[in-house]
Amino acid sequence: MTASAPQRPASPWRLARRAERMNPSVIREILKVTERPGIISLAGGLPSPDSFPIEAMREATALVLRDTPREALQYAASEGFAPLREWVAEQMSQQGMAVDPAQVLITTGSQQGLDLVGKVLLDAGSGVAVEEPTYLGALQAFAPYEPEVITVPCDHDGPLPESLGVAKGARFLYALPNFQNPSGRCMSEDRRAALVAAARDIGLPIVEDNPYGDLWFDTAPPAPLASRWAEGIVYLGSFSKVLAPGLRLGYIVAPPALMPKLLQAKQAADLHTPGFNQRVVYEVIRNGFLREHVPTIRVRYKAQRDAMRAALEAHLPKGCSWSVPTGGMFFWVELPEGIDAVALLAKAVDLGMAYVPGAAFFAANPKLNTLRLSFVTVAPPEIERGVALLAQALRAA
Ligand SMILES: Cc1ncc(COP(=O)(O)O)c(C=O)c1O
Repeated sequence: MTASAPQRPASPWRLARRAERMNPSVIREILKVTERPGIISLAGGLPSPDSFPIEAMREATALVLRDTPREALQYAASEGFAPLREWVAEQMSQQGMAVDPAQVLITTGSQQGLDLVGKVLLDAGSGVAVEEPTYLGALQAFAPYEPEVITVPCDHDGPLPESLGVAKGARFLYALPNFQNPSGRCMSEDRRAALVAAARDIGLPIVEDNPYGDLWFDTAPPAPLASRWAEGIVYLGSFSKVLAPGLRLGYIVAPPALMPKLLQAKQAADLHTPGFNQRVVYEVIRNGFLREHVPTIRVRYKAQRDAMRAALEAHLPKGCSWSVPTGGMFFWVELPEGIDAVALLAKAVDLGMAYVPGAAFFAANPKLNTLRLSFVTVAPPEIERGVALLAQALRAA
């Protein structure tokens, strides 16, 4: 007789309901595959490492450690480093918003800003309105608060003001006016005005997320939504795309009424954003560094956008369509009806390229024949080769 194997005791851990709602990010899972050597990844939303201001960071780090090492390495204020908050307020003022530094909360990336607004504004079952498609990381940040996600119909210019009624009663609309992730679209001046007017009419606040606004190629985008309705809009900004994402530095600009609760949520989450990083970044940018640096990123990304446009035109078969982004990092491609970009991905990876299937960016009713391509992470010759491989996968399908 053989003894049966001893039964493992059941796990003593019982997950919270909110943890059941957490899912692995499709993008992160894809990125793991794309780390395989030889894969040309047009999937990740990673800024080009060639754009990182390494020398300026080195000098600023040395200065901070020389001049204020004790302060920089100590616990710090939850609101953020005061001179950096003043800098943010000044930048916002230049975009037509009168912002007091007291309205600025420095966050651990704008991703934390999304979590904090979710924590402060969403109850289980309360409505949160999103664009179609929308940033997957926001859907993930809001999901643990168990909201009902409402998709607002959109066209090439963003959410349709006349359809905003579907979101009446929601806690807020999450909007991405500049070079949206994933669609690349940029909202026109008229659409911004009409959207904010419609939101005000129905008392729907807006959370405006703007990590890509500085990455325009020919002309700057229109003024932020927040400049049109100061008390009804929370604005999220980030240093990830203009300096480096590894710093994990972003900010919330909030109406005074919301600030105390956001600050309490921030305190509970992580006490404060690393003070060392804040001081180093302030040291880098305090004398106008970004005025010189950001244009170099624009030139680089515009050339890469052009390379991808040329490759798409040269290689993608008839029936595929895309619009050319005027800034940011992404092309959004629609494949012929009936082609499933999720299923196609395995074939594309086999051939040696990767993209993100568009389905990941829909809160409901995913458009399966869509995909997102990033043009900033790889150099033009690889962009061309990656798009050619995508076309090969499509022809095989
Ligand atoms: C639309 C959008 N919001 C927020 C984030 C998060 O950025 P951060 O690095 O500032 O946390 C990203 C990152 O790619 C993004 O695309």
